[in-house]
Amino acid sequence: MPSVSNSDELIFFVNGRKVVEKSPDPEVNLLFYLRKVHILCLTGTKYGCGGGGCGACTVMVSRYDPKSKKIHHYPATACLVPICSLHGAAITTVEGVGSIRKRIHPVQERLAKCHGTQCGFCSPGMVMSIYTLLRNHPEPTPDQITEALGGNLCRCTGYRPIVESVKTFSPGSTVCQMKGSGQCCMDPDEGSFVSREEKICTKLYNEDEFQPLDPSQEPIFPPELIRMAEDPDKRRLTFRGPRTTWFVPVTLEDLLELKSSYPKAPLVMGNTSVGPSIKFKGEFHPVFISPLRFPELHLVKNTENGATIGAGQSLAQLKDALDFLVSEQPKEKTKTFHALLKHLRTLAGPQIRNMASLGGHMVSRPNFSDLNPILAAGNATINVMSKEGEQQIPFDDAFLEGSPETKLKPEWVMVSVSIPYTTQWHFVAGLRLAQRQENAVAIVNAGMSVEFEEGTNTIKDLQMFFGSVAPTVVSASQTCKQLIGRQWDDQMLSDACRWVLEEIRIPAAAQGGMVEYRRTLIVSLLFKFYLKVRRWLNKMDPQKFPDIPEKFVSALDDFPIETPQGIQMFQCVDPNQPQQDPVGHPVMHQSAIKHATGEAIFIDDMPPVDQELFLAVVTSTRAHAKITSLDASEALACPGVVDVITAEDVPGENNHSGEIFYAQDEVICVGQIICAVAADTYAHAKEAAKRVRIAYDDIEPVIITIEQALEHNSFLSSEKKIEQGNVEYAFKHVDQVIEGEIHVEGQEHFYMETQSILAIPQAEDKEMVLHLGTQFPTHVQEYVSAALKVPRSRIACHMKRAGGAFGGKVTKPALLGAVTAVAANKTGRPIRFILERSADMLITAGRHPLLGKYKIGFMNNGEIKAADVEYYINGGCTPDESEMVIEFIVLKSENAYSIPNFRCRGRACKTNLPSNTAFRGFGFPQVAVVVEAYITAVASKCNLLPEEVKEINMYKQTSKTAYKQTFNPEPLRRCWKECLEKSSFYARKQAAEEFNKKNYWKKRGLAVIPMKYSIGMPIAFYNQAAALVHIYLDGSVLLTHGGCELGQGLYTKMIQVASRELNIPQSYVHLSETSTVTVPNALFTAGSLGTDVNGKAVQNACQILLDRLSPIIRKNPKGKWKEWVAKAFEESISLSATGYFKGYQTNMDWEKEEGDAYPYYVYGAACSEVEVDCLTGAHKLLRTDIFMDAAFSINPALDIGQVEGAFVQGMGFHTIEELKYSPEGVLHSRGPDDYKIPTVTEIPEELYVSLVHSRNPIAIYSSKGLGEAGMFLGSSVLFAIYDAVTAARRERGMSDTFPMNSPATPEVIRMSCTDQFTNMIPRDDPSTFTPWSIHVS
Ligand SMILES: Cc1cc2nc3c(=O)[nH]c(=O)nc-3n(C[C@H](O)[C@H](O)[C@H](O)COP(=O)(O)OP(=O)(O)OC[C@H]3O[C@@H](n4cnc5c(N)ncnc54)[C@H](O)[C@@H]3O)c2cc1C
Ligand code: FES
Ligand code: FES
Repeated sequence: MPSVSNSDELIFFVNGRKVVEKSPDPEVNLLFYLRKVHILCLTGTKYGCGGGGCGACTVMVSRYDPKSKKIHHYPATACLVPICSLHGAAITTVEGVGSIRKRIHPVQERLAKCHGTQCGFCSPGMVMSIYTLLRNHPEPTPDQITEALGGNLCRCTGYRPIVESVKTFSPGSTVCQMKGSGQCCMDPDEGSFVSREEKICTKLYNEDEFQPLDPSQEPIFPPELIRMAEDPDKRRLTFRGPRTTWFVPVTLEDLLELKSSYPKAPLVMGNTSVGPSIKFKGEFHPVFISPLRFPELHLVKNTENGATIGAGQSLAQLKDALDFLVSEQPKEKTKTFHALLKHLRTLAGPQIRNMASLGGHMVSRPNFSDLNPILAAGNATINVMSKEGEQQIPFDDAFLEGSPETKLKPEWVMVSVSIPYTTQWHFVAGLRLAQRQENAVAIVNAGMSVEFEEGTNTIKDLQMFFGSVAPTVVSASQTCKQLIGRQWDDQMLSDACRWVLEEIRIPAAAQGGMVEYRRTLIVSLLFKFYLKVRRWLNKMDPQKFPDIPEKFVSALDDFPIETPQGIQMFQCVDPNQPQQDPVGHPVMHQSAIKHATGEAIFIDDMPPVDQELFLAVVTSTRAHAKITSLDASEALACPGVVDVITAEDVPGENNHSGEIFYAQDEVICVGQIICAVAADTYAHAKEAAKRVRIAYDDIEPVIITIEQALEHNSFLSSEKKIEQGNVEYAFKHVDQVIEGEIHVEGQEHFYMETQSILAIPQAEDKEMVLHLGTQFPTHVQEYVSAALKVPRSRIACHMKRAGGAFGGKVTKPALLGAVTAVAANKTGRPIRFILERSADMLITAGRHPLLGKYKIGFMNNGEIKAADVEYYINGGCTPDESEMVIEFIVLKSENAYSIPNFRCRGRACKTNLPSNTAFRGFGFPQVAVVVEAYITAVASKCNLLPEEVKEINMYKQTSKTAYKQTFNPEPLRRCWKECLEKSSFYARKQAAEEFNKKNYWKKRGLAVIPMKYSIGMPIAFYNQAAALVHIYLDGSVLLTHGGCELGQGLYTKMIQVASRELNIPQSYVHLSETSTVTVPNALFTAGSLGTDVNGKAVQNACQILLDRLSPIIRKNPKGKWKEWVAKAFEESISLSATGYFKGYQTNMDWEKEEGDAYPYYVYGAACSEVEVDCLTGAHKLLRTDIFMDAAFSINPALDIGQVEGAFVQGMGFHTIEELKYSPEGVLHSRGPDDYKIPTVTEIPEELYVSLVHSRNPIAIYSSKGLGEAGMFLGSSVLFAIYDAVTAARRERGMSDTFPMNSPATPEVIRMSCTDQFTNMIPRDDPSTFTPWSIHVS
């Protein structure tokens, strides 16, 4: 291997600046390079997953094509771009788009002002996707907008405001199009959505403020790169790193030469397959070959027989080429192209589609490939070359299944692929189903083609290829062969289904699970193909070939991807309110512009601290075992390693309040931290961590599920109970009694910024400074102080912002902070501990899975007289907050319903899973689903609509809860009524029924969900808060309080409060960070209480200061703020004050089962309508209407942001988010590839959100805390799905009652719509195999 010194120079540009790397390391990716290499230190581009799945690291790559003389701009995920692949490219990062220091770009401005940022961690990636879109299409169409955002995840906003910010660039699209006439539906002259008397506003931003987009102002492409690209004397480049070499051949001959010398070297094109294999599977390649663009690999040739497309074309270029070809050629010739185009729209996200190459896709042959089954069914051939010559290889089953005869020899290069035109009697289609419509690999996909004898429906040739059913894409060749000569009719279909299931056998324990579902999908997709072909035959000759039944037509197409739209309504500010007073206005998030420019600093964006080390942890691979030995010698000998830290290095408590920092003798879950490696780089730490040898002896029992915990009597808490009335008596006097069980699975927080900690030991007095993204700095301080055995006063915890938290950063940062602090203490050096996404998901767990058991007694008119319910949650292996969660579950378990005889019991189970923790809604979203489920079950028994039974049983007047707290549900009634009316529920329900009558395979469903959500804590001292306000002599104000900024806009609201109280403009008030130094003993920012309690504390501090200033103001009423401040100083008046809020006086007596547990309630209602595809289990959310009781909104933009963001998170929880555990307790789903949160394509096509006005004198400015409540309203989608599934089942003659568990994944939906296909699949005896994954609820 040549030495590093004779490497070529790598030249590329970043934001117009030339970068010359003299010895570039092929193992370094662009994300690391941008963020960590000191010449750049561009930390705007974020790490979210490292595998191309989240879009946080999106940058724009620009390249000049000497042939077309055009510059091509495309989005790319920097985490998958090796720097060596960038020779001659220009990179634009968020910093290059605009900055506060220079000039913000219209994209950044509009994202911020349209409230498209909350925590801001996804925002730079969003900006880059939008910016790239606008570079290519300055006036994008709605489809282009949705397409451009499909690869970027946002966990906070619910996407609607992001889409809206981009729509402002499309001409004429800022006006709502609800009337289809360019007029806004809010216009009161027609049957308006809102009554005229209400002073309702709908504008959350003012587009008149926006700078125009001027494409001519964008930076030019560096001329030097044009010269480089046009250089006729290009020569091969060689980049040599410490361990690897990267060759850049510049001609095909050169490439073939290199391939012959290094046959095993991967040909790196998009690196979207090679990169993840290196990163996640630990593959190592000493040599890479990555060709520069040359004609043979990039051709698009149209011949008489078909098209030949260069293997180097990206999938996005392939799409453009096919789009062009289908526009040029008659439709009958381009059926394969159409099938490919359909899948190219949803395959991955736009970043990956722009990076990945056709050749890379076909050759890497992933079993889930979307294109390969179609290409094979379309009889494609690949054209390969080596030094020895060229060859055509049929792209068929032998090739896909990797048979030795057709295996691509290592020295061969695929140059192009030839895709023949289809003939007149030849039909090709691609079919797929994924957990999420876009950017999710298929659960099963297929490419199918059939050729008929001319003018007949006699099969001449048939091909069926399936993906994701075996380790490779497989063909049902035997079945196809047997069907040749048969007519395309129902009998053929029936035989085809039976035979294909015999031919393609998915083993019961197959990796990926969902075995019965996948088997069902094989035949369901085949049936769809059958219908499509029938329809097409009918078009070919309507006389000869009858059409499919009208009722089946809607089965043909997948759901279209629409651009979401909607309206947000909130109360207008009183016109008499002083102009300067910002309270009630939709003020932009205080950091929004910084989010959008990438200048907002998150923990890992902080510059390197002198001498800092990086931490990688070693976690348990067993659920319950004795550690018999731990050998770190090999790890210690690894390059860069400074130390290995174990339990023995903890100077203080290693087990604090039941939470273990480093496992010592025993492990109690997979993912428990055992030891940590501190090294000079993260790569070194990670590499060494792999070399720590740990031996285990398994211990019985291993408890994973709630059922197992119940069997073993394994609990974390005692039973909590509330009871009212006489339950037993009531059961004896009702018309009917039902009993049932509901399972609600867990949820991953998936905050975009993973847990991040920087611990800096100080030279003196054992002080330690920690910077974290946390919701509870005091808790971190407590744990670190316990671990280090140092008084809390020496531990300073700082938090400026967190990139999302959702409850996941309440307790976990304390544990991780203690682990980090122990390492910092032992090494005496600063430690940076940034969890990779997979480690974060594994270690920190999430929402508690819940099992609800119910017995309900009711009258035939739907009136519920008695309920006896039991709840169990899977708490995991340590206490965390599980006891509090179960208390909340029990207290919140009645939701909006008054049941006179009610008993509810709950208990947290102890299992060998990582400890579950707080998550938005704190148990309510799980428990209230059980309530809605049993109400729905009652409705079914009474032959009523669920909404009618809800109405009957809902609280109607001032009442007492089951724990005897008095409340007035008037806003609940209002939200409910408005929701039913404004959503036109009954009319739309009827329309859905009509639709369902006419459509057999697609069904629509609607559901309305009422909500009574309690705010705050039943323990009074948990509701206290403090603030510290300083006024400086220039009049500027520094505000601090105990609350944490997590994206919810708390700091913004606090500035609004201070501005009103001090009667000064917001610009005078600054809020920098939250820290244990400024406000001691602050409680967590959670429970929707942040604004309530900190607002009161800030108000108090400001009022104290204003009281002190008032004599001066009285003396000089016309004076200015600054003058008053100066005067006060002269008069020795203190300009600093602590504000305090004692908290709401709540209490709960569990002995008496009563208390004033909560300060107040937030009410709401939501109506959702969905359509489900009964054949695949896919669903589409057509419309949602939300009515949320906000009382008086301090900031409607932020409040609506919370409602919408929580709704989308709740919708994800109940539909597509699915954690997969092995029976041994190993979490399979550890990243965006296998855990799907909603993307822009999942949100409602129409979304209407109204903040309903009420009074809440107890809270600041009569507001209400809205952080969590919207989460539960996401369950309206779950129940709408069940409504649709019920319609399908009813039509198929099945009972209405079936388990309404959560989430309603495509698998659950499909398997609940039982039909001839689900009935024909082979089923396995559960006692004969160990499934790949299990449910843990
Ligand atoms: C986040 C993400 C989401 C994805 N989602 C989907 C999805 O929904 N559906 C889907 O089907 N796929 C999906 N993929 C897979 C993606 O389609 C493939 O990774 C991609 O097409 C591979 O192309 P590449 O150019 O990046 O290959 P590379 O990673 O560059 O190369 C892959 C392999 O192919 C070989 N190779 C490349 N070109 C040639 C050639 N011309 N001749 C010979 N050998 C060659 C290389 O040697 C290497 O071994 C996803 C990938 C990611 C990262
Ligand atoms: S960090 Fe690159 S896509 Fe997630
Ligand atoms: S704002 Fe998008 S992830 Fe937080």
